[in-house]
Parts: sequence; C-alpha cells; structure tokens
Amino acid sequence: MAAFTPRVFSGIQPSGGLTLGNYLGAMKRFVTMQDEGKFETVYCMVDLHAITVWQDPAALTRATRELCAGFIAAGVDPSKSILFNQSQVAEHAQLAWIFNCVARMGWMQRMTQWKDKAGKNSQNASLGLFAYPALMAADILVYHATHVPVGEDQKQHLELTRDIAIKFNNDFGVDFFPETEPVIEGAATRVMSLRDGSKKMSKSDPSDMSRINLIDDADTIAQKIRKARTDPDALPSEVDGLDDRPEARNLVNIYAALAETTPEAVLADHGGSQFSAFKPELADLAVNKLAPISTEMSRLMEQPDGIDRILGHGAEQARALAAPILKKTYEIVGMVGA
Ligand code: TYM
Repeated sequence: MAAFTPRVFSGIQPSGGLTLGNYLGAMKRFVTMQDEGKFETVYCMVDLHAITVWQDPAALTRATRELCAGFIAAGVDPSKSILFNQSQVAEHAQLAWIFNCVARMGWMQRMTQWKDKAGKNSQNASLGLFAYPALMAADILVYHATHVPVGEDQKQHLELTRDIAIKFNNDFGVDFFPETEPVIEGAATRVMSLRDGSKKMSKSDPSDMSRINLIDDADTIAQKIRKARTDPDALPSEVDGLDDRPEARNLVNIYAALAETTPEAVLADHGGSQFSAFKPELADLAVNKLAPISTEMSRLMEQPDGIDRILGHGAEQARALAAPILKKTYEIVGMVGA
C-alpha cells in the first residue's frame, strides 16, 4: 500500500438548518480533528449533493452561507482547515464521472439512503440521487483523504467509497486511491429524535420539536428538552440499564457528548435521578454550549461577503490539492492530454 498523507475530509449538505445531530455527530468532531494537529483537514459544504433533491435557489444560497457560518462558529478555523463549497471545485464532479463508470448499478441499488429517499416512487427520483454515493466517493478520494469523520448513518456510503477505490485500483492495476477509514466515534454518532427514540434526529422531520436546531434560542432549546419524550423510570447507574430505553439512552448520550465525557460517567453522576431533575441540567448544559455558537452564526451572517471570501479562498486551496490527483487519474484511465 502506498503511503498517504494523513488527511481528513468530511462534508455537510446545505439543505436547511443544522441540527444537534450534525453538530455532535460531525462538526464538533471536525474541530477536534483539526485541533489535534495530526491531520490536514478539509471540510466541505456539499451543494452538489444538496440538489439531488429539489432546492429553492435562494434558499440554497442562504443555507450554504449559514452552514459556513456554522462551521466557523463551531470552531473550524479557516486558517487551519480548508473550508469551501463543493461546486467551486470542479474536480469533484469530474472524478465523480469516472467513478460513475467504476461503480455498479447493483451497488447503488443496495444503498439504504437511496431506498429511503427514493421511496416507492424511485422512477421519479433524480439520476443524481441514485449516483449520490459516487460523488461522495469522489469528494473523499479527490484529496486522497485517509480519514472521514461522520455519523453512523454515513457508514454504508463510506464502505462503498472503499469498494470504489479498490475496484479502480484493481481495474487499472495501480495502487493509487487509499482505502479510507471511517471515523465514527464518541457518544453521539447517532443522535435520535426527541419525540421518538427509534428515529434519527433529522432536519427533514416534520416536527420541529423532534430536533434542536443550532439557531434555536435558549428558551426554545430548554422547552424542547423539557418536552422530550421519556419513560417514567429513574436513570439507571449503569449503561446496561439503558437497554430497551431508547429515549433515555439518547438524552444520556447527548449529555455525554456535550459535556465531553462518557455515558458511563454521566450515569455515575446521575444514576437514580428522575427525568424531572435530569432534564433541567441537560437543558442548562445544552444552552451553555450551543448559545455562543448560535450568537456567532448570526454575527457572521451579517457579513455574507466575508463568508464568500472565506469560501473562495478555501476553494483555491482545495483545487491545489485536487487538480494533480484528478490529472493523474485521467492519465491512469488513458485520457489523451491529461
Ligand atoms: P448530512 O448533511 O446528512 O449530515 C452531515 C453530517 O452529520 C451527521 N449526522 C448525524 N450524526 C449523528 N446523529 C444524527 N442524528 C445525525 N444527522 C446527521 C452525518 O452522519 C454527517 O456526518 N452524505 C453526507 C454528506 C457528504 C459527505 C461527503 C460526508 C457528502 N460527501 C464526503 C463525508 C464525506 C450527508 O448527507 O451528510
């Protein structure tokens, strides 16, 4: 196996507001990996992925800037990480085309996200939605990224990314693309809905009470936690006691991730507490951690030009990494002039 520079890539879709799930499952961990200093870190607003389902153009523009503000407010530092939106770096779409010709229809058909999003009416879904995972593989592999921090829901897409890299390397008899490692770690890799512990917290859930949005104000956050569905029992003192209690497990996991500790430690402190006592503490913790992010996002959003400059600069840096890798890919494939 060739040696690859330790490099992190990850992306978030600008398709509506950011949730606590995005923050704890992804963004917060992006900041940790940036600050560890072990990796080059590349973070992307994946606008080409967002348009695989309909996006109102003005809303997409706003959501992209808001997402960039969210990244920065959460601690992604454009002087330490490369921060940009996907459509500005054409190499993503160019490599995705090559991967469309490497990946097999059957692989795509097995993707649970495709099945969920296309639903029964798959004939009417966009071709882009079907090819979505090949573009995601291109996002990662156009930087030869070695590590990809994501939430649990992206695991299958990352396995497909490895399959594409392996098939490309085999088909062309090269050792060119790395087998990227998913990084799915910590207490909050799957933050669940506050209304239903069996469903993922999602920006597309029709009920706003099911999620905490990063732009929610303190009262709204506290109210949503107070009203979160729970069972009538007290918290257990061991994590085994959370089996078959998905809502309780979810609140404990959220607490642990916000407090940067483990569910075991949370239960060691709070085992035996009723939710009437635990929820206000969780609400205070959430407000303390999230309110500064939301305030900073609003401040940054007042200067859209500043955001666009950051994204433009990030795109230049990203292109400098991606262009030679795409050029070499074209050479391997046999494109004249590459
Ligand atoms: P997206 O935009 O749906 O979500 C962005 C990130 O947030 C994580 N996440 C969650 N984590 C824990 N609990 C939740 N409830 C929750 N909801 C969302 C997601 O796992 C993800 O890490 N396909 C990707 C975007 C993408 C990408 C990439 C990611 C495109 N290219 C390349 C990594 C590398 C997506 O739709 O994420």
